[in-house]
Amino acid sequence: MVARAVRQNPRLVLGLPTGRTPESFYHALVRMHRRGRLDFGRVTTFNLDEFTGLAADDPRSYRAYMHRVLGAFVNLSTSRVHLPDGSASDWQREARRYDNAIVRAGGLDVAVIGIGANGHIGFNEPAPALEAATHLVRLRPESRRANAYLFGGRPQQVPTHALSMGIGTILRARTVVLLATGQAKAAIVARALTGPVTTRVPASLLQVHRSAVAVLDRSAAAGLAAAATDSA
Ligand code: GLP
Repeated sequence: MVARAVRQNPRLVLGLPTGRTPESFYHALVRMHRRGRLDFGRVTTFNLDEFTGLAADDPRSYRAYMHRVLGAFVNLSTSRVHLPDGSASDWQREARRYDNAIVRAGGLDVAVIGIGANGHIGFNEPAPALEAATHLVRLRPESRRANAYLFGGRPQQVPTHALSMGIGTILRARTVVLLATGQAKAAIVARALTGPVTTRVPASLLQVHRSAVAVLDRSAAAGLAAAATDSA
């Protein structure tokens, strides 16, 4: 879907996720690029989030992750690759700068996102209310545990905060593609796609999006069959 969108519009503006789930998606993009079938030369990317308190060149940052899985292998122009700057001292200013850059680029054409086991998208954590714009987030313990693999397996080393794109920017993307794999995501995928729309499961807000697609493997989709049977 993303490759097709890039071929149709070489100036595509992409929202991109991190995590283990999208690694095979990035590998596929790299493969297509290497076979000469995908040109990123004029594509613009905006990542969903970044940890705060890490140096700009910290190998554990999402910026470094993006370089490892995609940037190092395709012809993305560095001036068109955007992540929130987690090392900024004035996070409010940085959040405004990031949102303005997204607006100037014309908004996100396709936002590819993952889902946290607690239903978060980007780092929009379950809460009574969600922020529409880029903002500072205090990470839930479960989110720090889920990201420990980037920090030598030690959750306490994971930064306590992150800057995340807001739910408004994600929902304004022209198309949203939600990726989920593995049995550990089955329950939350079922709640997000078939449960009530609630800020307690941020991904459930995608149910009101006009053009949202969930791409699931069988294990992640297992709870959907159960949900359908329950309601039948
Ligand atoms: C992180 C990211 C999210 C991502 C989630 C799921 O917390 N901030 O954007 O969707 O992890 O990660 P994984 O794919 O490793 O399960």
